[in-house]
Amino acid sequence: MPRIISFEGIDGAGKTTLAKNVYGVLKKKGYNVILTQEPFTREITELIKKSGWNDPVLLTLLFSADRAFHIKWIMEQKPEIVLMDRYFHSTIAYQSVLGLDEEWIEEVNSKFPKPDIVFLLDIEVNEAIKRIRKDDQFNFEEKINTLEAVRKKYLELARKYNFIVLDAKSKIEELTEKTVQIICSLVKCS
Ligand code: TYD
Repeated sequence: MPRIISFEGIDGAGKTTLAKNVYGVLKKKGYNVILTQEPFTREITELIKKSGWNDPVLLTLLFSADRAFHIKWIMEQKPEIVLMDRYFHSTIAYQSVLGLDEEWIEEVNSKFPKPDIVFLLDIEVNEAIKRIRKDDQFNFEEKINTLEAVRKKYLELARKYNFIVLDAKSKIEELTEKTVQIICSLVKCS
């Protein structure tokens, strides 16, 4: 089983940049590391886009089905470390604020391996919105309106599951160094 490290946070927090940087450093150190992103499959991503943002049950099932393909693919790669730009805590955070029972979302996702470390990039919603790419493929207005609640839910999950909370406004170099250090204490980097 690979070490699973996930990066979470609201849209615009900068997870993708951080995950890419960390990937570069670990790769250079000689690790068999892969960097992946959810949603993973093109087909299910298309279905999510078509379904819109107002049906939390459908969204939960689609994101979770996509995850099943994602995990299967990861296992086939046999990596030592997998860096995941979003994992099942995204479904808990984003879909529960649409009024869906959090326990049910957890149950649907309970067969997937638990991450060894979850990094939560925390950022104020106003700041995050400035950073959201115009070409965000899920740029639903309804979603943007829920980001405040999603951020709050993430912070709640962070306390419950011991995420490592990072200040997304810190310098990217500092964030990268700190993140690598924490991962290295888990995998005993040389
Ligand atoms: P994002 O990382 O923003 O992808 P991209 O940069 O390619 O647009 O993720 C897509 C959006 O989907 C993001 O707003 C979070 C949301 N999402 C959920 O609501 N539930 C989930 O389970 C996942 C994985 C993502």
